[in-house]
Amino acid sequence: MSDGLNIVVLVSGRGSNLQAIIDAQKSKKIKSRVRLVLSSDKRALALEKAKQEMIPIQVIESKSQSKDSFQRELLQAVKNENPDLIVLAGFMKILSEEFIQCFENKIINIHPSLLPAFPGLDAQGQAIRYGVKITGCTVHYVDQGCDTGPIILQQAETVLDTDDRDSLASRLLHKEHQTLVRAIQLIEDNKVVLQGRRTLISRGP
Ligand code: GRF
Repeated sequence: MSDGLNIVVLVSGRGSNLQAIIDAQKSKKIKSRVRLVLSSDKRALALEKAKQEMIPIQVIESKSQSKDSFQRELLQAVKNENPDLIVLAGFMKILSEEFIQCFENKIINIHPSLLPAFPGLDAQGQAIRYGVKITGCTVHYVDQGCDTGPIILQQAETVLDTDDRDSLASRLLHKEHQTLVRAIQLIEDNKVVLQGRRTLISRGP
């Protein structure tokens, strides 16, 4: 057992996964604390959610600067926090190689499909269009690829005949919240062991 991790959450939008982490922190389901919410969009609703909880926020937008300077600023801002864990919760920017190397195996992402199926944007729409009967969500470590890092946890969800993209996305979102919080619990308790591409989850106390 640990005393919990210092977490930086990277967001770009609505922030429901951020809210799930905050709620888990408040109800003591996790011991970790969100130290900073960093957004790539100043209009992100996630920023309001952080403000309500008095969590420090920072906005780094790419619009007004070059790609390199955006990446430098982002890296520096996260380094300043010296986080134990970085959670990508609807973060719509690609991280630089340098960023990923600097925080190797400390960055996790939540993705709304059973990876490796349907990586990238609009995974829920991809699942509907492809016609799969089962999809789900994945929490994985972030590596240099697009949604390719070692998988920590997955949860499946049935695709109903009546589903459209939005109804599926909304059921999946509920599972995303649970899965993300569970993954943070496992990581803070040192129960996730990386073995190459595989993660082994220790079931002990
Ligand atoms: C979620 O579906 C997440 O899996 C994806 O982006 C969405 C973010 O939603 N990466 P929210 O901002 O956490 O509500």
